[in-house]
Amino acid sequence: MSLQLLLDSANITAWEEWIPTGIFKGITTNPTLIRQSKRPCNLQWIKKLAKKANKLNCQQLHLQAWGKSAIDLTECGLALSKLSSSSLNIYVKIPLTIEGCQAAINLTRAGKAITFTACFKSQQILIASTIGATYIAPYLGRINDEGRNGMEELLKMQKTVENINSKTKLLVASIREVSELTNLANHGITTFAISPSIAKALIDVPSTNLAANKFELDASVMLKETNFI
Ligand code: G3P
Repeated sequence: MSLQLLLDSANITAWEEWIPTGIFKGITTNPTLIRQSKRPCNLQWIKKLAKKANKLNCQQLHLQAWGKSAIDLTECGLALSKLSSSSLNIYVKIPLTIEGCQAAINLTRAGKAITFTACFKSQQILIASTIGATYIAPYLGRINDEGRNGMEELLKMQKTVENINSKTKLLVASIREVSELTNLANHGITTFAISPSIAKALIDVPSTNLAANKFELDASVMLKETNFI
């Protein structure tokens, strides 16, 4: 499967900066990111986010459902999934709790695409695969924060996905270093949600910028010397 990068942000200014670079297939968000963007986590605002994602030509928008019970999560997920359009696929993100599983099975039975989120243990791959989630999002950095080896845990998850021939794909989140992307990609993991700061670290290579500036300088000197164009 080809590489898929998703921008992990609910901040429209960040969307406008990073989506036009062409390196992202879409966007992931959650209530915490919406709170950080100082906007309300309600359907009214999320409708505006979906409209904006559409305008920016995103192919995917992962929107997280909220609610304490399975019924609340299901209803919220159904409302979120209605924001899809012919060009924008909505994936309903649901935390991997017991209530989340109940909501996810309701939504998959209704034909909705699910991204399970807040995955910390490889055993959770089995749950996501059984329920038929499209993606499961392991939190690499937060697994490391718990004092465990996040990279080893993720490779174990990927092995499980491959060994059980699962249709569920890893969508790695909580990435703190660009090197984690390349290490995981070298082990066949292809889908990543990255923050705007990781996007900058990924794309902004000083030596490339220096070389590009030199090309521009040489082009303008030649223009002056030859009066060409
Ligand atoms: O958006 C979920 C995840 O990517 C958060 O990352 O760095 O806050 O653990 P982080």
